[in-house]
Amino acid sequence: MKRLARVALIGYGKMGRLLEQLAPGHGFEVALRLAGADNPGGAAITAESFLGINRGIDVAIDFSTAAAVPVNAERIAALGIPLVVGTTGWGDRLSAVREAVERHGGGLLYGANFSVGVQVFYRLAATAAGLLAEEDAYEAWAYEIHHSKKKDAPSGTLLQIKKVMEEAGYTRPIDVASNRAGSIPGTHQIGFDSEADTITLEHRARSRAGFAHGALRAARWMIGRQGFYEFSQVWEEIVRERT
Ligand SMILES: NC(=O)c1ccc[n+]([C@@H]2O[C@H](COP(=O)([O-])OP(=O)(O)OC[C@H]3O[C@@H](n4cnc5c(N)ncnc54)[C@H](OP(=O)(O)O)[C@@H]3O)[C@@H](O)[C@H]2O)c1
Repeated sequence: MKRLARVALIGYGKMGRLLEQLAPGHGFEVALRLAGADNPGGAAITAESFLGINRGIDVAIDFSTAAAVPVNAERIAALGIPLVVGTTGWGDRLSAVREAVERHGGGLLYGANFSVGVQVFYRLAATAAGLLAEEDAYEAWAYEIHHSKKKDAPSGTLLQIKKVMEEAGYTRPIDVASNRAGSIPGTHQIGFDSEADTITLEHRARSRAGFAHGALRAARWMIGRQGFYEFSQVWEEIVRERT
């Protein structure tokens, strides 16, 4: 019988627990879980705990906190285990993380948002922004609201939406705003307004399940892989595999 792939969960909060529930449906056995208290300064990421005889981890998934990502990523890369990072808020450390992963010949895939709907939304936002790039009568905004426990603002997803709009040629200002309240799993909106009319595009996550399924698909794709990837760049290839 084919053995289940073995995954380590780094971060065992809301997302870590949901990944654990959904992992078997993606052909994974959760072989290791690290909560914050287990892993100060990345101390639990060792050859003994990840590569030992009873562990044999194929891939790791990090949904922890921004401050923990650089050290977690470097230690995992040094062990030769591919890593999926869903944690947001570490964009200022991206090039340092990339350099460390590449120095160790490791594999890392990161994404501010693993939901299929948001991948589609990035493309809709880019198309709208490109079409209105030369239409000076329109001014743009980008807005997000999340639950009150979310630590980073604006969300990594909103920053990515703004980036794809700019890359599509929209060079005028995009007014950005964030709110934090209640239990909202994540709503993102962009809009364009002129004297004549208003266009709004909105994505509402209904639960965290879409993020978790996407992260688990990404983890399947990363098994045995090296290199540094952003989820939206490889999303089409990952969803084609339909794990
Ligand atoms: N990419 C996506 O699709 C997506 C979707 C949802 C969320 N996110 C992001 O994912 C991250 C986690 O979200 P969440 O809702 O699961 O947050 P959460 O419920 O606060 O869980 C984070 C967990 O990480 C633990 N942690 C802190 N430092 C750690 C370390 N060094 N090693 C291992 N674990 C550590 C925390 O433990 P302590 O409580 O003990 O500190 C906590 O249990 C956030 O950055 C969020 O923005 C991304």
